Amino acid sequence: MSDETISVLFVCLGNICRSPLAEAVFRQTVVEHDLEHRFHVDSAGTSGYHDGEPPDSRTREVAARRGVDVRGSSRRVTTADVDAFDYLIAMDVDNLREVERLIEEAAPDGDRPRAHLLREFDPEARGDLEVPDPYFGGPRGFDNVHDLVERSARGLLAHLRERHGL
Ligand code: 4NP
Repeated sequence: MSDETISVLFVCLGNICRSPLAEAVFRQTVVEHDLEHRFHVDSAGTSGYHDGEPPDSRTREVAARRGVDVRGSSRRVTTADVDAFDYLIAMDVDNLREVERLIEEAAPDGDRPRAHLLREFDPEARGDLEVPDPYFGGPRGFDNVHDLVERSARGLLAHLRERHGL
């Protein structure tokens, strides 16, 4: 197997709650496996509503209690991301549809990134494949999102290790 870098972009609506958390948790999982030299990880949102803003304070507080540092600046996902990333990992079905639309627009017949829902890699998903949007709910929603993201990130890394022989 070559030493190619595997690039993964996590995508939600606002890029301030779910996808920056998934980015941070996945990056930490990669580091725990000494694989950081093999991955490029980022996140983006489908809306642009919060362009340039830092991650939501509720996401950051719940993550900090669990030893995860969530950083970044919100940005909108673009067709350039379709060319730049190998995997586009969406938090819910609406985000996945938007990502698939961008793939059609940017790479009608060419080399396409793979698009997935994050919870396809959650061993406890039991058919519910969405990470629910916590933005308008209470703080319990953020704990729940963190649990789902942690399990799914481990599952995603296991999948990529197997697929890429890592
Ligand atoms: P995210 O959460 O998609 O997980 O970043 C949201 C953030 C902002 C909004 C919705 C969801 N909003 O409507 O502003």
